[in-house]
Amino acid sequence: MDKKTTAKLDLSGDAKNSAEFPVIAGSIGPDVVDIRTLLSKTGAFTYDPGFMSTASCRSKITFIDGDEGVLLYRGYPIEQLAESCDFLEVCHLLIYGELPNQKQKDKFDSIITRHTMVHDQIDNFFRGFRRDAHPMAIMVGAVGGLSAFYHDSLDVNDSTNREISAFRLIAKMPTLTAMAYKYSIGQPFVYPDNSLSYAANFKRMMFAVPTEKFEVNDVLVRALDRILILHADHEQNASTSTVRLAGSSGANPYACIAAGIACLWGPAHGGANEACLDMLEEIGDVSKVGHYIEKAKDKESGFRLMGFGHRVYKNYDPRAKLMRETCHEVLGELGLENDRLFKLAMALEKIALEDDYFVTRKLYPNVDFYSGIVQRAMGIPNNMFTCIFSLARTVGWIAQWMEMISDPEQKIGRPRQLYTGEVRREVKKLEERS
Ligand code: CMC
Repeated sequence: MDKKTTAKLDLSGDAKNSAEFPVIAGSIGPDVVDIRTLLSKTGAFTYDPGFMSTASCRSKITFIDGDEGVLLYRGYPIEQLAESCDFLEVCHLLIYGELPNQKQKDKFDSIITRHTMVHDQIDNFFRGFRRDAHPMAIMVGAVGGLSAFYHDSLDVNDSTNREISAFRLIAKMPTLTAMAYKYSIGQPFVYPDNSLSYAANFKRMMFAVPTEKFEVNDVLVRALDRILILHADHEQNASTSTVRLAGSSGANPYACIAAGIACLWGPAHGGANEACLDMLEEIGDVSKVGHYIEKAKDKESGFRLMGFGHRVYKNYDPRAKLMRETCHEVLGELGLENDRLFKLAMALEKIALEDDYFVTRKLYPNVDFYSGIVQRAMGIPNNMFTCIFSLARTVGWIAQWMEMISDPEQKIGRPRQLYTGEVRREVKKLEERS
């Protein structure tokens, strides 16, 4: 990082309460004011709920320019990665910083493939859940539970241990995700088939049954692979920050990823694709789109257009553009071009993109707007969408967690607060309290 200049903060016009702070430039993106010494120099904290203006770490993994609609993994544009790479190549890129050559790819693919099975005792975890449990509830439990199986490699200060945990998590997430689905529909678990690609293997574990031969559809497998690539990392979003915060205490990687999954579940984050499909079902018909647009604009209604808006993108989400393309391919392959919800989504998108409320607030469709439609067309039920998001995001979480642990400036995450509660008061005896 390049130190550029300094920023002066004057708290009261009094020289004693003013201080200078370094302004630091990254390789691209906004400069940051390094305020680590603010407290010691001035006695004040900053106040920034939702981290609107706060960089919580330095990172070399993902860059987003929200105004321009740019997303780079390790410097590579998402469009090129989605076009030219498979998901495991992107995993290699995120974890090691470089795309693999053929030899490295063969090695990485083979290592991940060899870790796809889960311990037989894991089955028992699943059987403890009700069949109607939300699969994300199962995923939080099952992934956290992995900590209990790998005592041999939980030393977070050992880089080999960290790498092994990364392999295990990337490899086992598809198996666990598919098990959560199979459990919910009462079908037997399907073991991984290591002769298949990562995405094809996952699809098979989701949809194969022991009684029938499973046919791999290349268009659908490629679409699934693209969903995984597009969701693999997204800088310091809520779930990634959760993983980093959990990991900052030295917690083991399985516990950290389980925390990330829990955070991702929320409808303002990864739960948006499920919520978006539910919303399209609720709207039901193109004739009702106008009514729902008005409802979304009415703050009293508490209703938002799910799949629209983003904290960082104030332009078309580049992932949404790619997902829109994939959506057309998948619906074409399956002969679903006239799908009711897809047509509805197109009508909603068109009206929202022309409406002054959405235009002035720069509310564009985000990746979740289309990914739900694609997954639904593939036969994936709504309540599995966020699980698939968590399967894809696991590599990003791990890459960020590994980067954090090896950062010499890393400290336990401990935000401060602006206290607005009661000042000190004395406890009265029970009979004296009003
Ligand atoms: N529908 C209607 N109005 C909206 C929407 C929406 N989807 N999103 C934002 N707004 C309005 C909001 O009411 C506010 O209006 P005003 O300035 O008049 O008060 C303005 O736009 C700015 O909104 P904000 O809540 O301050 O923006 P934020 O950056 O805090 O929130 C968001 C970002 C993604 C939580 C929000 O846009 C949202 O709730 N979207 C719907 C949920 C969704 O699709 N989430 C998926 C995000 S992408 C996947 C991921 O990375 O997890």
